Amino acid sequence: MLDVENLHVAYGQSEVLHGMSFGVATNEIVAIMGRNGMGKTTLMKTMMGILPSTAGSIRLRGEDIGGLKSHQRVRKGVAYVPQGRMVFSTMTVKENIETGLTASGDRKVPDDIYELFPVLLEMKGRRAGNLSGGQQQQLAIARALATKPKVLLLDEPTEGIQPSIIREMARTLRRIRDERGLSIVVSEQVLSFALDVADRVLVVENGEIVHDEPRAALNEAKVARYLSV
Ligand SMILES: Nc1ncnc2c1ncn2[C@@H]1O[C@H](COP(=O)(O)OP(=O)(O)OP(=O)(O)O)[C@@H](O)[C@H]1O
Ligand SMILES: [Mg+2]
Repeated sequence: MLDVENLHVAYGQSEVLHGMSFGVATNEIVAIMGRNGMGKTTLMKTMMGILPSTAGSIRLRGEDIGGLKSHQRVRKGVAYVPQGRMVFSTMTVKENIETGLTASGDRKVPDDIYELFPVLLEMKGRRAGNLSGGQQQQLAIARALATKPKVLLLDEPTEGIQPSIIREMARTLRRIRDERGLSIVVSEQVLSFALDVADRVLVVENGEIVHDEPRAALNEAKVARYLSV
């Protein structure tokens, strides 16, 4: 579904991603783990077209999307939940979700989005800035789903969220995958969440993928060592 090959990304003269390659299958959930500053957000932003790459390719179902602008990638089926959620705080919950509809062509927010996140239905008239962190995270995911994506990218969705809600989020993401047949790429520092949610775990260290293993065979101790400072 998604193929990243030999991706190089630089900020000015300083190269931060040094040739990353990985693929994500249809229906697969891949967790990208790595400590602070290792390049997770840079990778997400580059896949989304917010940052340019200096070399390499990004393909969606075989089609090179690396030259497309972000909004064009959204229309092709890539959706993005940024680190820090970035909901529109002065807009209502409903208005936030509706910003995703321009890509799908739907006139109103599909019911199944509110079924996934009942709290958003309850609070649909409230300003997004007044929601809790966990509720804002659900809103950011709902907004991304409103674009009807084939690939959902989430950048550290568990950041600043309590453990019980993190477990619930893992269940919700698996449900989204099961019901919609999505591919999901989620960057993460919490190993227990990655173990709950992912079919495959990658580790990023200093802009390179140093580990890539299926969940079922995962050497947890080794991954934990990469994550400890
Ligand atoms: N706008 C920028 N200009 C220059 N360097 C940057 C910029 N953004 C990030 N970097 C550098 O790129 C490297 C990777 O940063 P990135 O934000 O991708 O890491 P991360 O894995 O997402 O970290 P975190 O877990 O803290 O979110 C870091 O060394 C960072 O300092
Ligand atoms: Mg980051």
